Amino acid sequence: MASLPYIVGNWKMNGTRAMLNEARAIDRAAARLPKVQVAVAPPATLIYRTRDSVELIGVGGQDCHVKESGAFTGDISAPMLKDAGADFVIVGHSERRTLHAETSEIVKAKAEAAHSAGLAVIVCVGETEAERDAGSAEAVVGAQVEGSVPGTDGAVDRLTVAYEPVWAIGTGRVPSIDDVAAMHKAIRVKLVAIYGDAGAQVRILYGGSVKADNAAELLAVPEVGGALVGGASLAAESFLAIVGAA
Ligand code: G3P
Repeated sequence: MASLPYIVGNWKMNGTRAMLNEARAIDRAAARLPKVQVAVAPPATLIYRTRDSVELIGVGGQDCHVKESGAFTGDISAPMLKDAGADFVIVGHSERRTLHAETSEIVKAKAEAAHSAGLAVIVCVGETEAERDAGSAEAVVGAQVEGSVPGTDGAVDRLTVAYEPVWAIGTGRVPSIDDVAAMHKAIRVKLVAIYGDAGAQVRILYGGSVKADNAAELLAVPEVGGALVGGASLAAESFLAIVGAA
C-alpha cells in the first residue's frame, strides 16, 4: 500500500469563492501535517481559483467527459481539468452512477481519459443498502471494480479506488469495522487479480459519513489507505480534524 494516508474532500455541488478561505486554511494546516496527503475536489467553477490559492494540497475535479473535446454542451474534459490546474479527478461517484446513469463501462472510459490527460484518478465503487441486505455487496463492488478501473496500460500508480457504500453517504451511518475490513480486503484481492503486484500498491479509500469522531477508527482498518470525505470537508475545521486523525 502506498505510504501516506490520503484524505480527500469532495465538495460536491457546494462552494462559491468564499470557500477559497477554507481551502487556504486546509493548505496552511497541511504544511504542519507532512505525513498525510491532502486534497480537495471543489466544483469545476472553483478549480482554477483553488489551485491558485493553495500550495501544498492536491486539487481535483469531480467528473470528466470521456472525450477530449467536442459538441458536448455543459461537459468538461480531462485535458480541461488538467489545464485548470487539477491534479486528479473523481470518477464513478455513486451520485454520478445514479443520477447520470453512469455504467462501469463509462466510468472506465472516464478513468482512462483522465490518465491520458495526465491526471490521477479516484474510481468510486459501492453497494446500495438493498444489495448489502441481499448479501451481494462484495459481488456488486467486485464487479464495479473490475468494470471501472482503467486498463493495464493506464498508470496504476496514479489510481486510487474509493469504497463508498451508497447507504452510508450523507446519512451518518457507517458499516461496521469488520464490514469495512472485509470489503477493503476483497477490493485488494480484485486489484491484484487485475494488475498483478502493482495492484497491491493502489490506495483504497473509505468514504461515507466519515467524521472527526469515527475517522481514527476507520483509518486504522487494514487496507484503508485514507478517506473520501463529503459533508465534513466543507469546513476547514471539521476536515482538518479528520486529517489530524490520519
Ligand atoms: O465522496 C464523498 C462522499 O460521497 C461521502 O459523503 O457526506 O457521507 O461524507 P459524506
